[in-house]
Amino acid sequence: MIATVKGTRDILPPESFVWNRVEAVAREVFHSFGYGEIRTPLMEPTELFTRGIGEDTDIVNKEMYTFPDKKGRSLTLRPEGTAPVARAYISNNMQTLPHPLRLYYIGPMFRYERPQKGRYRQFFQIGAEILGPEEPAADVEMFSLLVDFLNRLEFTDLAVGLNSVGCEACRPGYRAALQAVLQEHKGELCVDCVRRIDTNPLRVLDCKEAGCQPVKKLLPSIGGHLCETCSAHLRFVEEGLNALKIRFELNDRLVRGLDYYTRTVFEVVSGRLGAQNAICGGGRYDRLISDLGGPKVPGIGFAIGQDRLIEILPESFKAKVKPGLDYFIVPVSPNELLPAFELAAKLREQGRSAGVALDGKGLKKGLKFAAATGAVSALILGEEEIKNGEVVVKNLATGEQVKKKIDEL
Ligand code: HAM
Repeated sequence: MIATVKGTRDILPPESFVWNRVEAVAREVFHSFGYGEIRTPLMEPTELFTRGIGEDTDIVNKEMYTFPDKKGRSLTLRPEGTAPVARAYISNNMQTLPHPLRLYYIGPMFRYERPQKGRYRQFFQIGAEILGPEEPAADVEMFSLLVDFLNRLEFTDLAVGLNSVGCEACRPGYRAALQAVLQEHKGELCVDCVRRIDTNPLRVLDCKEAGCQPVKKLLPSIGGHLCETCSAHLRFVEEGLNALKIRFELNDRLVRGLDYYTRTVFEVVSGRLGAQNAICGGGRYDRLISDLGGPKVPGIGFAIGQDRLIEILPESFKAKVKPGLDYFIVPVSPNELLPAFELAAKLREQGRSAGVALDGKGLKKGLKFAAATGAVSALILGEEEIKNGEVVVKNLATGEQVKKKIDEL
């Protein structure tokens, strides 16, 4: 037997019906806010991610699927969707389009992480990005879009964490303040955090190593270091969320695993997920496009981990996803098989879903199979029914049977 690659899996029916429904709702919500779909390639030049996400991040250091192609060019399976969107913006000259530009994507991402519950090496993200506005109104729109989608999936128990990681004016001061404390306690830190003192001290705030936790408590928070513009930006976002009645918690220790963020960062977590509890992460990246060689165009967005989202999808929503057919037609003998196909085609033309028992093995087997498919009703078609333009409708949940004229179905 050939197994799936570690950290990857097959998504099969009926579960895939739930995935399809979630994606359909995502598209409906995104379209209702004026977002258009962008489909970027699954592989990109490696440089896009090393420059875009940052050299000293876990993704770039440890988690990328990077390989040379046959001509020796270094390619990487996309670990996330924002750097590819920024690359596409530049490659397609999208600054000539009307702004703000509102984009969304749904698809697989790849990270070489240790697989565990809620963490896969191929996972799926549902993401949105708005490009153009520097104003915090765009941040508020992002939250409104995100919460609208989660509400449509009937979530009631998610927590939003919000912070600002500052900008090029105020972050250097904060970095220096962190570095001062970290230097003093260098001996107590893990090897990764010792390296981060110089390369990426903010990432220490996110370290999960037990030994680093006491030092983390001593670190200053960013709140006191934000410049007036970043503080005002954050205040506007908070006011916007309050006005939209979106519950959130200001967490001035929240940092993210990607280096492109400026100002607003946020996460949505669920108490029902265990260690991998983040179902969504996002934030503002005002320098990403220009850092990749494009124009100075700010952006903000989020990505939801679809695998985790589905893991904790409310039962009330799942119960409404009906994978079964409306009708499953059971010909009593092989003579009724072709009329059964005609009837199925007619029902589908009317917008109903219909299948036909193909094996001609008679009523009993056919009905058993119809029930196993999860169909709502079986339609029994025998010689006499065909003569009279009728069909026997059997409700597969209750077992109740009635004869009906085919035209009345
Ligand atoms: P991220 O926080 O790295 O952000 O990923 C977003 C979400 O993807 C996470 O909250 C999680 O639900 C899911 N996820 C990440 N890794 C895995 C994994 N190995 N298995 C299952 N799910 C996973 C980004 O990717 C940014 N591009 C988000 C963004 C968009 N920021 C601005 N725009």
